[in-house]
Amino acid sequence: MDTTTTQRPTHDPAPPARLDLPPLRLGRLTVDVPVVLAPMAGVTNKAFRRLCREYGGGLYVTEMVTARALVERRPESMRIIDHDPDETPRSIQIYGVDAVNVGRAVRMVVEEDRADHVDLNFGCPVPKVTKRGGGSALPWKTDLFTAIVRTAVEEASRGDVPVTVKMRKGIDDEHLTYLEAGRIARDHGVAAVALHGRTLEQHYSGTADWDAIARLREALPDIPVLGNGDIWSAEDAVRMVERTGVDGVVVGRGCQGRPWLFGDLQAAFEGRAERFRPDLATVAGILRRHAQLLVETFGDEGKGVREIRKHVAWYFKGYPVGGELRARLAQVPDLATLEALLAELDPDVGYPGTAVEGPRGRAGSPRRAHLPDGWLASRELGDAERLGLTAAELDVSGG
Ligand SMILES: Cc1cc2nc3c(=O)[nH]c(=O)nc-3n(C[C@H](O)[C@H](O)[C@H](O)COP(=O)(O)O)c2cc1C
Repeated sequence: MDTTTTQRPTHDPAPPARLDLPPLRLGRLTVDVPVVLAPMAGVTNKAFRRLCREYGGGLYVTEMVTARALVERRPESMRIIDHDPDETPRSIQIYGVDAVNVGRAVRMVVEEDRADHVDLNFGCPVPKVTKRGGGSALPWKTDLFTAIVRTAVEEASRGDVPVTVKMRKGIDDEHLTYLEAGRIARDHGVAAVALHGRTLEQHYSGTADWDAIARLREALPDIPVLGNGDIWSAEDAVRMVERTGVDGVVVGRGCQGRPWLFGDLQAAFEGRAERFRPDLATVAGILRRHAQLLVETFGDEGKGVREIRKHVAWYFKGYPVGGELRARLAQVPDLATLEALLAELDPDVGYPGTAVEGPRGRAGSPRRAHLPDGWLASRELGDAERLGLTAAELDVSGG
């Protein structure tokens, strides 16, 4: 791997002071570098986690798995929660809208020793999920939220497995839930709470509200609070810790096409100024390896290669790679073609600097929150709403 120790970008000349942040403690687990790879459906599979882990320490969370599908042992769910033998701690994220299903899923994971940490997803903004009351719509119903958290913690405690909660600020600025949900989660024994500083309505638009993260940190002095949203570089992570006082950071889109960011994050958290500044040939090598790992993970060249296609634009963002070559890479049919296309890249292109830094991945504009009829009228779940929720677990993708 190519590490260079060149100066940091000119837009931000002062290297950060050493943070001296203690290791992140999640129940009996200790995570030396308090950095979490955010769960991302379709991205944070075993292959991508391995690639990220090779650069730095931290906690690397699976894609979300639906509680019900896990209990039914659907092959895709079993694939999602699988870890490499050297992956430790083994962290998974469960999405569920029903305390019984979530409890069963956690029990299965604990009894069969399939994970060392369980995160619960209360942040999904996908309309087909929230319009049935799931994901980031759910904490609005405090009785349901409480029941899910309580059951998950109870089941997990049998194996001394820590449970964490990941959530958004609320539904919109008039319907914020994070402070109350944070307190409920703390009171029911979660090991930490992570906040993505956006509302459901914001989706991925605008900027994450780090002040809300600071408020949650203050409101929950007795458990770790993790901050999430808009960390694009190690310097952003340091800034978030300094501004909010969080115990660790959760990084999602910033590492798409940049698994080496975890090396930068570890260096920054240890007060070192080295940053990965890969030239184009190095990036091509990492992309190639990612593709090979995907093929191994899925045990199927066609599937692995289809998966790598979406990463191509992320890897080459900011690098001068022609549109035609990009287009062919985005439709690559097999590993041999990938090899041939990567050989066409100009080997003399160096690190482009700020062009590859900053925002990447999903963005878009605010969208009206899709909720079940009358959802906001009460903080407690009505019977009709309970029925609607069952459907929320049936077809889900993405957070
Ligand atoms: C492609 C994609 C898939 C995601 N899937 C999940 C998921 O499965 N579970 C979850 O809790 N959040 C999911 N998220 C949200 C991220 O975990 C994270 O909270 C969000 O991207 C904000 O962090 P960032 O600014 O560092 O990207 C997803 C985000 C993206 C972009």
